[in-house]
Amino acid sequence: MADETKEAASEKTVVIGSGAAMSASGGHAVVIAQPRPVAPPILPKVSRRGVVIVGFWSALGLMLAGIGYTIVDMLYPRGIIPFEREIVVGTVDSLVPGKPVKIVDAKTWLVMMDAETARRNNGQEGAILALYQKCPHLGCSVPWREDVTREDERSGESYTGWFLCPCHGSTYSAAGVYVFGPAPRSMDTFLVTITDGKITVNTGKRTAGTTSNGARGVLPG
Ligand code: FES
Repeated sequence: MADETKEAASEKTVVIGSGAAMSASGGHAVVIAQPRPVAPPILPKVSRRGVVIVGFWSALGLMLAGIGYTIVDMLYPRGIIPFEREIVVGTVDSLVPGKPVKIVDAKTWLVMMDAETARRNNGQEGAILALYQKCPHLGCSVPWREDVTREDERSGESYTGWFLCPCHGSTYSAAGVYVFGPAPRSMDTFLVTITDGKITVNTGKRTAGTTSNGARGVLPG
């Protein structure tokens, strides 16, 4: 009730026409109600200090979340294929005797021994060998160098085609047999299986290299 009274009081009214004229003519007064002015909304006050504090804690929270995510991602990497596994590396038909082929996925040199390689390394012609590319000295990747000629210290024979480590010069025969340099042994070999002409290298089955690497070659069935 009190509100209604206030409302009525707050409304401005405009009367059009004078009282004498209206009574003489018997007309009515016209009253136009004026709308109440609308008060602007009261917004909460935001201080500069408040903005700085919220910004600081938000940035700190984001930074900590980022660090946490990075740590978890490093501890539990996704989509990484383990190196040690069985890898189909090709077919027997694709190999050329005496020409080692690099298999990047398996970090392997695949060698099919020709008659000379077999003779020099006590192997069998046509047998296939998988040599781990890592040098047994300090772990450099060992390339095949068919342009290099040197003496085989086992026989005194000189011929072309060697595995030659670029780091400290260790030299290995085409069957990965150590002949020169600081390396402590011959190149390691991986287990090879051949089924229906397909060659599989098992990088989880590695055997330390010896002077009898050549005898580890596998003949296609
Ligand atoms: Fe190959 Fe040193 S790492 S000779």
